[in-house]
Amino acid sequence: MYLPYPSPEDSNDSANPYIHHLSAPSRRQVLRGGLGVMGAQWFVALGLSACATPGQGSRPALGFASVAVNTLDQVTVPEGYEAQVLVPWGEPVGLSGEDPAFKWDASNTAAEQAVQLGMHHDGIQYLPLPALGTGLLVINHEYTDDGLLHRDGMTTWTAEKVRKSQAAHGLSIVEVTQEKGRWKAVRPSPFARRITANTPMRFSGPAAGHPLLRTAADPQGMSPMGTLNNCGNGLTPWGTVLTTEENFIGYFNGPAQPDAHGKRWGLRSGGAGYRWHEHDARFDATRHPNEPNRFGWIVEIDPQDPSSVPVKRTALGRGSHEAARIVLTREGRAVVYSGEDARFEYIYKFVSRDRMQPGGAKANQHLLDHGTLYVARFDANGRGQWMPLTHGSHQLDAARGFQDAGDVLIKTRQASDVLGATKMDRPEWIEVDPQGWVYVTLTNNSNRGVGNSPGVDAANPRANNNMGHIIRWKESGDFDATSFEWNHLVLAGDPQQARPQAKGTIQGDVFACPDGLWVDTRGVLWIQTDISSNTIAKGEMSGLGHNALLAVDPRSGEIRRFLVGPAGCEITGMTGTTDGTTVFVNIQHPGETPSERSDPNRPRQYSNWPDFRADGRPRSATLAIRKLDGGVVGT
Ligand code: FEO
Ligand code: CA
Ligand code: CA
Repeated sequence: MYLPYPSPEDSNDSANPYIHHLSAPSRRQVLRGGLGVMGAQWFVALGLSACATPGQGSRPALGFASVAVNTLDQVTVPEGYEAQVLVPWGEPVGLSGEDPAFKWDASNTAAEQAVQLGMHHDGIQYLPLPALGTGLLVINHEYTDDGLLHRDGMTTWTAEKVRKSQAAHGLSIVEVTQEKGRWKAVRPSPFARRITANTPMRFSGPAAGHPLLRTAADPQGMSPMGTLNNCGNGLTPWGTVLTTEENFIGYFNGPAQPDAHGKRWGLRSGGAGYRWHEHDARFDATRHPNEPNRFGWIVEIDPQDPSSVPVKRTALGRGSHEAARIVLTREGRAVVYSGEDARFEYIYKFVSRDRMQPGGAKANQHLLDHGTLYVARFDANGRGQWMPLTHGSHQLDAARGFQDAGDVLIKTRQASDVLGATKMDRPEWIEVDPQGWVYVTLTNNSNRGVGNSPGVDAANPRANNNMGHIIRWKESGDFDATSFEWNHLVLAGDPQQARPQAKGTIQGDVFACPDGLWVDTRGVLWIQTDISSNTIAKGEMSGLGHNALLAVDPRSGEIRRFLVGPAGCEITGMTGTTDGTTVFVNIQHPGETPSERSDPNRPRQYSNWPDFRADGRPRSATLAIRKLDGGVVGT
């Protein structure tokens, strides 16, 4: 997403190791109670893919014809494919057989929205339930466009509207099944669930109960309410989902002169303009200064237990996290890669102290509470270091303002500043392929090398980097190694651009602003783009058409466009069935305006996808994409 909000950079002045990581018991470990939860990425991890290693196999990895750049208000996929619209914003998740229907004039109440799919679909995971012949889609709803959510937008602003906006945030869990090829939601479903900005949660890990997490409503600092700005996510091998809280600070009204901590995290008067604080004092940081500290965490959710309490895992550090990609070491330790999607912020990995145990979510309920958090430094010689954010070492002590381990985890940015980590061009999604490459999209950073902002470095080599790039590394040993070797997969860009640094190094179809990443069952890396409407309006992206989904041929390195989205959308969130014959792709914010808030009097100003009703409004939705011949998507 793009936020018309000053990025915290303003405050930041400071060998095939993969397949054998997944030991034989792992497969059993991800099965629980007869409900298999093995997602496509775990088949990759187990080396059960069709193997796309360069030089192996005789058939090309990508078998589809490239889709041309276009500006149509529709989804375009290659010939021989079908993209079915599934579970758009406002449809019931399926809590009962009598859930309220979506109202096209946006007159659904907050209570109704709380049992319907939220707005602005983002990260998505699919958990197959083979014993039931169905599966669960776990969908993040990143943020709201209040010009579409309410009949009169934000013209009048009420407590009911704030509650509706909060109910449209969070996650949806929807059971889905396939009938004669077509996908549909199972309603009602015992798994159906909405998680919103007001769902009771708990803290765990070293910062739980920390004085900086205590509020008047929760004097113990153990019971936060809700999750928001959920962007990227990840599926754990024990069957839970990790969801991130990305641009959380924009929901808070801050003081005119924030303290150093608030300033470093971008707290400011008025926030990003959500105006929740006008009717919900919790979001007024001038009255509840610790409430912002209770967001920015990676949250673990057990989709198979609708009564489970989501857990904010403080050991993984606090940040405007985008990704939460989890892998296992050879010994079975959990490694969680993440980054902060903010200009000049950092890339992290957490390594668990303990090993994953058989027995699913319950057996691993403390696994992400103990371990070491590292931050990355990319050196100019192509090597890199993981630097531990450990209290008491490397100057992370009381003299620098870190009283204890909780302080380090709540002030992860400040700790990373002290260690001299590499300031990146907005790290978004992180993925891992069967060869052990770890990829990170660096979506863009037009402030790089501009004014007093940091200049270019080896890892972020372009000033005014509005096109973005993808960096990758291999750990020097197992995933818990403390050093790595890195290079660039690609610098994105448009060869038609007059500005040399906007041209890029793409071999194949042109794209810019890479955001989502996903590695499929065959080891093919898929790239989702997010050129913001605001950026498009500025003109330099005019030749790139609408945002797109592209695939990287693992043998040749060719990048080929697979899908082009409707007007104003970004493509974000991708997962698939374990047999590879369906991929699920989220279309977020069709019809986005350059200001990100639609004119309620003209809801169809830029897009009317996917319903195209005369009285409709554009809606984020999940696509279920299949090959018409039933084959593996991408072949
Ligand atoms: Fe939520 Fe960084 O996109
Ligand atoms: Ca983005
Ligand atoms: Ca994103």
